[in-house]
Amino acid sequence: MDVLSLLKEDHRTVAALLDEAQECEPGDRRLDGLATKIEKALTVHAAIEEKFFYPMLRERSEESEDSVDVFEAYTEHELVKRLIALLKSGRQPAEKFKAELQVLGENVKHHVKEEESTIFGLARQLLAREELEELGEEMAAAKRQMTAASRNGARRKTPARKTARSRKTTGARTRRKTR
Ligand SMILES: [Fe+2]
Repeated sequence: MDVLSLLKEDHRTVAALLDEAQECEPGDRRLDGLATKIEKALTVHAAIEEKFFYPMLRERSEESEDSVDVFEAYTEHELVKRLIALLKSGRQPAEKFKAELQVLGENVKHHVKEEESTIFGLARQLLAREELEELGEEMAAAKRQMTAASRNGARRKTPARKTARSRKTTGARTRRKTR
């Protein structure tokens, strides 16, 4: 997969999580889990971009204007990281936590919009098709590694919870037969 498709896929995943969080009322039990997923996804995403993608664009940018665009992307990442740190610092009161998630969502949306237009445009201009492919493979591998590492790190003892959903969905509906 080429780097642009990989990043777009990441963007869609995070956007869906942010939308789900946006629909929750403050204090909704789902928010904690959603926030954790969002934090993890964004952390890995920003890390692989900063390790592989942005440096390559910086290196190739000859126009000062293009360099500014790449630095803008870095700066937006810094903001997102600060917002993630804020989310991690405490999740109470519920309204404050919800507001922080909302601000994170707004910032991520802005960043994604600019990245998919300006930065992707720059990448198409400065990198050859094969390079976009290679970068994509490299970043996908790094992403798998980081995701696995964070999963292993998160293996703590958590009490088993009963899932209401599994009970609700089994046999709740009978399939309608077509004749
Ligand atoms: Fe980014």
